[in-house]
Amino acid sequence: MVGLLSLIEARLQPVFDLLEEGADPVVRPSAQDGVDFQANGALPLAKRLGRDPAGLAAELAAAAGDLGGACASVVASPRGFVNLTLDDAWLAAELAAAAADPRFGRGVASEALTVVVDYSAPNVAKEMHAGHLRSTLIGDAICRLLADAGHEVLRENHVGDWGTQFGMLIEYLLEAGEAGSAELSIGDLDGFYRRARESFDRSEDFKERSRRRVVALQSGDPETLALWRQLVERSVEHFSAIYRRLGVLLEPSDVVGESSYNDQLPAVVAELDSKGLLTDSEGAKCAFLPGFTNREGEPLPLIVVKSDGGYNYATTDLAALRDRFGRLGADLVLYVVGAPQALHFEMVFALGRAAGWLPEGKQALHVAFGNMLGADRKMFRTRAGATVKLADLVDEAVERASATVAARSPELPAEVAAQVAEQVGVGALAYADLSTDRTRDYVFDWDRMLSLEGNTAPYLQYANARIRSIFRRAELDPASLLAGVDASMLTISERAERDLAIALLGYDTALQATLETYSPHKLCAYLFELAGTFTSFYEACPVLRCEDPAVRTSRLVLCATSAGVLSSGLGLLGIAAPERM
Ligand code: ARG
Repeated sequence: MVGLLSLIEARLQPVFDLLEEGADPVVRPSAQDGVDFQANGALPLAKRLGRDPAGLAAELAAAAGDLGGACASVVASPRGFVNLTLDDAWLAAELAAAAADPRFGRGVASEALTVVVDYSAPNVAKEMHAGHLRSTLIGDAICRLLADAGHEVLRENHVGDWGTQFGMLIEYLLEAGEAGSAELSIGDLDGFYRRARESFDRSEDFKERSRRRVVALQSGDPETLALWRQLVERSVEHFSAIYRRLGVLLEPSDVVGESSYNDQLPAVVAELDSKGLLTDSEGAKCAFLPGFTNREGEPLPLIVVKSDGGYNYATTDLAALRDRFGRLGADLVLYVVGAPQALHFEMVFALGRAAGWLPEGKQALHVAFGNMLGADRKMFRTRAGATVKLADLVDEAVERASATVAARSPELPAEVAAQVAEQVGVGALAYADLSTDRTRDYVFDWDRMLSLEGNTAPYLQYANARIRSIFRRAELDPASLLAGVDASMLTISERAERDLAIALLGYDTALQATLETYSPHKLCAYLFELAGTFTSFYEACPVLRCEDPAVRTSRLVLCATSAGVLSSGLGLLGIAAPERM
């Protein structure tokens, strides 16, 4: 099973091939009344062949016939499009196949790739901030979508666990003793970091000890390493608790922190050097790559060894890139990181290519995202100007959702209500992020994300729960209904039934578009539209009150498939679809 659009396109391809081998039919949904799809490819083809568009479209339409039974009509428009109207019985048979398919018609990729997804990547002994939330949610949705499409997905959490600040953090851990441990264990990472910084700024002696501690850490002093490991482990525990709460797939075993590349850094630099890619500049080793210049037009360096001999963020990323394409055999590496790091990744990828670590035909891609903004359209912060703790954000979302659930469904047993509130609150938070084009900034707005109207998680969750309640009333199990569906059970005659069937058969197309640009908002937009189409159907077509048993069954299949696609789509975004709410 694949989406309707691909199916129509595949059937039109041989027709277009008759006139020009490989000419793209460019099938799109049509906005015209009574027309389901249009082949836009006829017009440019007429231009290329130097022919009259209307005449050529007519020839194509004639050759298409009824498109192997798929169409009730295929007609050329005077402007040179080919307009297609689907046949009701054919549509019903297609929908029956999708309804009976546990994947609801979504296909798998023709070629399974090994994809490394680098996402979340918070920093040790620091609270995760809004940027990490975005990376975590977008990255996780992309992992789910890729795996579902049949790719092998390797999640890598490139946590910031190395650098000169660890001297200060370790010294503070020693100095604060119990107090420091307590801060870490309750997950007050910001408090820990802030107080470490205060000690550092206050005391020259502390500063000196911190400096010595960095040297000890870098030279592998066992006592220092043990303290460092404590910091990392406690922080990872804290991150994991947040991942679990958010329903994110990341596990401690996915952590491949910056430090894990330490051993490889000298070899990375030596290899770059031997390939003639490094230049000494004021004591630092830099790569000057063609095409990278600053505002003044001067060549822009990528520093890989600092003038003090130390390595940096870029060196580590080069080692990671080399490891991912080399040892892990990745075909594709996705970096789900904020847009401000675009130049860094462009340079790392360019140098990786030049060094031969990023082979021809393989791809590294920066899946960038914009900022999360407060109501004042400035960076999202607390009133006091501090970064907002993720854990607090989740707590507040769930608290607000509890109020909504209690008001709407007072009959739910307390336990169920609490679980639903968790799913609605977390879902709302995640969906607000995923439903906006990731490349844009978005304004964080509690009321909007928790609203039961509009393109929100609660709206979609509610649409699903409402359909499930139809089945509870009918004392039917939607899953067993779908398992036994065959074409004879579906009749499509009403306009609203047609619209819903076509919308449901667009699931695969929406998923393909989503993965093509790694843009979860495209799947969100599809689900939102589907829920709207379902509502129109439900208003126009009685289901349980329908007198004709055959029509009733057919409509129940439409309902069950709608709920199935809604919950499957939400699932691919990492969002729960409660049975009732
Ligand atoms: N830890 C970094 C930060 O907080 C993000 C790392 C992203 N991944 C990477 N391979 N550089 O900004």
